[in-house]
Amino acid sequence: MSVTTSVATEDDAERILKLQFLCYQGEAELYGDWSIDPLTQTLDSMRSELKEHHVLVARLGDEIVGSVRGRVDDDGVGRIGRLMVHPRMQRHGLGSRLLRAMEQQLAADGTVIVGYRLFTGHRSLGNLRLYQRLGYRQTQVEEVNSKLSFIVLEKRTEPALDRFAAIA
Ligand SMILES: CC(C)(COP(=O)(O)OP(=O)(O)OC[C@H]1O[C@@H](n2cnc3c(N)ncnc32)[C@H](O)[C@@H]1OP(=O)(O)O)[C@@H](O)C(=O)NCCC(=O)NCCS
Repeated sequence: MSVTTSVATEDDAERILKLQFLCYQGEAELYGDWSIDPLTQTLDSMRSELKEHHVLVARLGDEIVGSVRGRVDDDGVGRIGRLMVHPRMQRHGLGSRLLRAMEQQLAADGTVIVGYRLFTGHRSLGNLRLYQRLGYRQTQVEEVNSKLSFIVLEKRTEPALDRFAAIA
């Protein structure tokens, strides 16, 4: 059976949230903080995100084994987040595949895309390696609290370099 990637439906909300709670345990441990947003998100909020964001899921048969969310903001920047892959499926390229699929999904949105932006915690070195390998470069560090800073990374689309610089 192979893993397929598709747009999530409303019915997927609960299963995406369950996968999220599982996948982000490692991040919570890393920061010693189990109150991080991915672990405290409610089902209602997840349902709203499904309406307001692009959400992709990776399915293995009936099971959701990966997901990613994105939206294009008013400045034409594709903001990507909540990339997750079931722990037993990690490190086989699925996370990269989902991230690339979301970039394509946002580019096909019809809105002018000047680049993509995402972030991860400062201690999440594996995530940073993954994003850098996929062409993202660190642009900012945002201190969230004494335990956590967000490293913001961006990947610019070639024709619009100047515009991205203007809004950064
Ligand atoms: C980040 C995540 C989606 C990557 O999924 P994946 O399917 O393993 O990704 P790929 O197989 O395409 O790439 C693997 C790369 O991810 C990176 N990586 C992410 N987390 C890692 C970890 N805990 N340990 C080692 N490498 C990790 C590494 O760069 C790795 O490359 P390597 O094997 O050459 O070291 C997955 O690890 C996950 O769900 N993590 C928990 C949730 C999370 O932190 N999401 C990102 C929030 S910003």
